[in-house]
This record gives sequence, structure tokens and C-alpha cells, in this order.
Amino acid sequence: MTDMTKAGVFDSGVGGLSVVKSLLQDNLFEEIIYYGDTARVPYGPKDKNTIIRYALEALEFFKNFDIDILIIACNSVSAYAIKELREVAPFPVVGVIEPGVIALANNIKDKNANILITGTKATVKSEKYKNLLQARGYKNITQKATPLFVPLVEEKIYSGQIIDAAMNHYFSEINSIDALIMGCTHFPLLEKEYKKMFPNTMLIHSGNAIVEYLKYNYDLKKSKNKTDIKFYATENPSHLKEVAKEWLELPSA
Ligand code: DGL
Repeated sequence: MTDMTKAGVFDSGVGGLSVVKSLLQDNLFEEIIYYGDTARVPYGPKDKNTIIRYALEALEFFKNFDIDILIIACNSVSAYAIKELREVAPFPVVGVIEPGVIALANNIKDKNANILITGTKATVKSEKYKNLLQARGYKNITQKATPLFVPLVEEKIYSGQIIDAAMNHYFSEINSIDALIMGCTHFPLLEKEYKKMFPNTMLIHSGNAIVEYLKYNYDLKKSKNKTDIKFYATENPSHLKEVAKEWLELPSA
């Protein structure tokens, strides 16, 4: 197996930085090329064919870099376009959905556990998480699209009255959840609020799940140096860099 030192990370916008944060914590790569399709975010309300087309366009961008692996941080793209990307990509492509399901299965052994999947409309509509969980024998699965969380996080609103109202709007009738998948790049930024709403629930975070998946499936050596990240966006890259500085606590981006 060849050494993997350089990763591409793709997201519909800035949200994939939550996945980058997990990659940085483990220092898995020497270099990361982050590309956000900020001109066309959000992908969540878009249909399958559009998401596949955008993902294939992003792949062309990554071909300009000598990356060893492409990580699809976006759940909506992971839900619809992994097969299409793999068919034409000259490097391995991994999405976040399978790792999320594996993380859940590693922690929740009871097949009667109550599982809640939260995500964008596209991710929920794809039923990708649901199908993979059912294939592993899980029986009690509820899905809930929670698209309002995306613009709130984009507005850097992570707590307070509006988040409380949105949480109540989506979840007031949902009880006794054993495991909850935060199936969208933006949702880990609301982890504290999810915990408040579901205090005894195991939360699955795409970033942490993909780190475990990569470590298990690929021969990755921890980088000795701090990971070097380069940021690219289809629109307003300075906004992406500002958010990166804040979310990733970078001295400069
Ligand atoms: N990155 C998207 C996802 O994880 C969320 C934002 C969007 O709707 O594009 O599904």
C-alpha cells in the first residue's frame, strides 16, 4: 500500500471544516487541500442528479493536485455521488456515511436500539444511512431532516433562543433515542445543543467517524509535521479562510 500523505477534502461549502478539525486532531495527513463549493451551497435542498454533477465537477478540480485520497465531508454528496465519483476518480474516494454507520455499530450492539438520523433533505431522502443500518439489522430507525441548522451555523449561531426554538421544532416529539447521527457537516457545531436535547444519547460525529475509518482501512502514518492546509472555494474564499481560522483555531489560514 502506498503512503497517503496528501488528502483532498470536499464539501458544499464551509461545513466540511468540521471534518477537517477531526483530521487535524489526529494529524493524519501532511497536507490537506480543502475545496468548498461556496458559490452553490446549500446542496441539501438539491436533487440527486444535480448533486452528482456538482461532485463530478469538484473531482475535476482535485485532479489538478497530486492527492492520495479524496474525502467527501459533505453528507449530501456522500449520500448520492460516491459510486459515480469512484467510477472515474484516479484516487480512492471515501464518504462519511459508511464510516458513520460503522461508528454507530461499534458502539450500539442492541439491534432494537432507537436510532435517530438527522441530516439535510437530500441525505434523509436518499435513505443511505437508513438502508445501511437496516442491512446491519437495526430495526428502530427514525429520520429527520433538520435543514434550518445549516444557515444558523453559517450565521455562527451555535446556541441561544433561535437554536432552542429550532431544536424544539424538530425534536419535541422525539423521545428515548439511544443513538443519534449528526449527518451533516454543520451539525457537530451544535453538539452541545444536541447533548442538551438528548442528554443520554450517543452522538455520531462524521469527522470522528471518518478518522477511525481511515485509520482502520488505510496505512496512514501520523504526520510528524503540522498538517499544511490550503483552502479553495468557488466563491468568496476569504470567507472560507475566516471561518477556518475560527473553527479550526488556526493562527492564520
Ligand atoms: N455539507 C452539507 C451536508 O453535509 C450541508 C450543507 C448543504 O446543504 O450543502 O449535507
